[in-house]
Amino acid sequence: MRKIIIAIDGYSSSGKSSFAKSIAKKYGYIFIDTGAMYRAVTFYAMQNGLIDSTGAVDTAELIKSLPQIKITFRYNPDIEASSIYLNGQKIDEQIREVTVSDNVYIISGIPEVREHLVALQREMGKEKGVVMDGRDIGTVVFPDAELKIFMTADPEIRAMRRYMELSQAGKKVSLEEITQNILKRDNADITRTVGPLKKAEDALSLDNSNLSVEQQMMWVSEKIDKLIK
Ligand code: DC
Repeated sequence: MRKIIIAIDGYSSSGKSSFAKSIAKKYGYIFIDTGAMYRAVTFYAMQNGLIDSTGAVDTAELIKSLPQIKITFRYNPDIEASSIYLNGQKIDEQIREVTVSDNVYIISGIPEVREHLVALQREMGKEKGVVMDGRDIGTVVFPDAELKIFMTADPEIRAMRRYMELSQAGKKVSLEEITQNILKRDNADITRTVGPLKKAEDALSLDNSNLSVEQQMMWVSEKIDKLIK
């Protein structure tokens, strides 16, 4: 069977990762969550005092540190998905903290950070057989991807999904706080000069506001099956 690259882009909390994970599981593909990679660099910057509480970044120092920021994914049978490691430390939980979510839009706006991560993402996908989700996968990282999907969902629904996720993980955050964070990140995603969130011309749109993962899987499987046979 032919191996392809599946690029999934879209807004924060539009369900990209759950969808991409289900596709990867069904087709035995590698799932790469590029948002987690931007979060990992943000976490590194926070840990190393390269971003302060006002959001000011020591950009020169961060750029110098990029070669020392080793990001890897390793399959974790406990969660039936990959865990993300930063210089050998598993950081799945840490990168989901609200403080990281608050700062990630600043770090992901730095062109050198993007160049570095895009190169890494291309390397990870060079053998194909990957489902990669992010904001610029179909436009910048893999403009020749065989299948591109652009996901959207109503902002209120996205905020509620994130709220449920965090509540279930025992995190105390208000829906209002999450809504504000999502709107701020949407704005940063759309207006970023390098790698902004944009639907690739040849991407298929999927509004999943009212669709279950099963319904989305039916929709996408039909398309993938045609491409791989
Ligand atoms: O998918 P996510 O919400 O975990 O992404 C975290 C942040 O990283 C989000 O603010 C946008 C940014 N991001 C990006 O700029 N480019 C990507 N390919 C993926 C994520």
